Amino acid sequence: MDPFFISTPIYYVNARPHLGHAYTTIVADSISRIHKLQNHQTFFLTGTDEHGDKIVEAAASNNQTPEEYVDSISSLFRNTWPWLEATPDKFIRTTYPEHKKCVQEVLQKVYDKGDIYFGEYGGHYCLGCERFYTEKELVDGLCPDHLKKPKFLQEKNYFFRMTKYLEPLREHILNNPDFIKPERYRNEVLGMLGEELTDLCISRPKSRLTWGIELPFDQQYVTYVWFDALINYISALSWPEGGDFKKYWSGAHHLVAKDILKPHAVFWPTMLMAADIPLFQSLRVHGYWTVSETKMSKSLGNVVEPMSMVDKYGLPSFRYFLLREMQFGLDASFSEEALVGRLNADLANDLGNLTNRVLSMTHKYFNGEVPVPSEFSEMDKETIELGQESLKDYVKLFENFDFAKALARLWVLVSHLNKYVDQSAPWVLYKEKNTVRLQTVMYVLLEGIRKIALHLWPVMPGASEKMLEQLGVEFDLNSVDLTGECAQWKGLPSGTMVAKSSNLFPRVDLSTEKKDKAQKPQKTKKEPKENLVQFEDFQKMKLVTGRIIEAQPVEDADKLYKLSVDIGKGEPRQVVAGLAEFFKPQDLTGRDVVVLANLAPRKIRGVMSHGMVLAVRQGKKMSLLKADPQSDPGKKVS
Ligand code: MSP
Repeated sequence: MDPFFISTPIYYVNARPHLGHAYTTIVADSISRIHKLQNHQTFFLTGTDEHGDKIVEAAASNNQTPEEYVDSISSLFRNTWPWLEATPDKFIRTTYPEHKKCVQEVLQKVYDKGDIYFGEYGGHYCLGCERFYTEKELVDGLCPDHLKKPKFLQEKNYFFRMTKYLEPLREHILNNPDFIKPERYRNEVLGMLGEELTDLCISRPKSRLTWGIELPFDQQYVTYVWFDALINYISALSWPEGGDFKKYWSGAHHLVAKDILKPHAVFWPTMLMAADIPLFQSLRVHGYWTVSETKMSKSLGNVVEPMSMVDKYGLPSFRYFLLREMQFGLDASFSEEALVGRLNADLANDLGNLTNRVLSMTHKYFNGEVPVPSEFSEMDKETIELGQESLKDYVKLFENFDFAKALARLWVLVSHLNKYVDQSAPWVLYKEKNTVRLQTVMYVLLEGIRKIALHLWPVMPGASEKMLEQLGVEFDLNSVDLTGECAQWKGLPSGTMVAKSSNLFPRVDLSTEKKDKAQKPQKTKKEPKENLVQFEDFQKMKLVTGRIIEAQPVEDADKLYKLSVDIGKGEPRQVVAGLAEFFKPQDLTGRDVVVLANLAPRKIRGVMSHGMVLAVRQGKKMSLLKADPQSDPGKKVS
């Protein structure tokens, strides 16, 4: 089996990680885990894309140098992934010296080959897309993506002779049906190649932009962001000589959403051809997560924050929902109602109840010990066969990025085991003292649940390991054999002690949650006269150091700011604070503060606040509390 390499796009650092980024990263993590479960050598790459006009603009509006700005947002991305149990093997940044060197080597190679030339170009430049548009590509004179009028720019630049490689690329796509998947995107790319494509402008004059990688053959220019960013996929593997490149490149798969199909399906393979580097195996393209039928975007203010969903509904439900709900390739709509629906039906009801029932029956009938099965009945054999088929299909579908279908297939087994409990009625067998049959039935169930838990590891690693632990099994990646799992029904050693019960997926009642929120605040209880606080009460307060990333005004509330504060948790905290009378937003960015992090969330003037920034008011002055000397975000204050 070839080694398996999976990459996500490297994300722009002009926005904080949101649900869209989280989805792609979780998919990449899950697919790498299903390969790890089969003992394949795997490499999962993600990172940040840090050059270009957009970043310079974002840094300036944040009153920071580009260096300071990219460092802070890049670490936000890097720190978010472990909270989502996404564990990349490498996090690449385009500002790393190794990456810059690699980009320059590729550029020089293509230049020496004669596939980069100098020319003059006039075009409509969209800052949002960081690219030139031809007259034909504009819609009513506007950028089709940003619906803004691009600037007309006429300048001398370097061009990559992309047109030379378009026909070989078309042939490659035609000869390799799996090169771009799902098929709708393959067809879309073939359509693009049928239209008139031009050579690619790959430089920006330094007179206009300096935040980029200098061209090795002309110091007056920096590299166009896409030519720079795409190379991350090989610079991260230390192309050309690095061991990782030699080991993994032949098994390379790229994962992107449909927004960046063209750079990945046209620019990147033609760049590889020009640099005489073998092409990747496949490009896997997914659709958009939408909210109320609209693509999520920072400017529309409809961005779903992954960490707040995780805080509310738990990580296993979040990861399960994302993989189960989106048909890979199509758009999917995100709503908390849908998430809770899946959590309650699939996880709490079907899987959670099954596990809990079977564990408690094992305790009741066998003091918690996995019994020794005897001969399987016809009903057992049917169940086992169905189980083995479901698991086999699940792995195949999962490897093929058909996550929704894979999970639906696995749930056929979950539902079947629920039916099996009812049909085999262990409580009757127990009453009738039919111990031999009872032992076999309970074994079929316990082994089935173990297999399900193991196969769920790519979807919800932590919960899967906990479920296995409840079955008395320690998860050990090195000893897992998925192919073997489908060939037997005897992996769980008899005599193993299992947990008494399981409550990994508690039900959530959304309607009560909403009602609770809508209720008027309860009248506060009378304070005790003595205003002393017990030490244990003080200890309940989670005071931590933080750093303000951004301060924004709150609509119709002159005194308030909506702060975004890094408290070392990856995802920044949103805190509403009455600081607007005392500070300008830019005076607050970068300030070190102390935050009460476990203050119950509260809506203040329609904006949720998750904590409090501590400050001292002295007349017309407000001073922010901070550690002295300054401390990294997330340190405990005690
Ligand atoms: N920096 C470029 C990529 C360079 S790769 C060599 C870029 N960055 S991005 O931050 O805009 O990330 C785009 C990617 O984020 C999408 O392709 C997708 O993986 C993910 N998503 C962002 N919004 C999304 C949705 N609303 N839905 C699904 N995925 C989304 O483009």
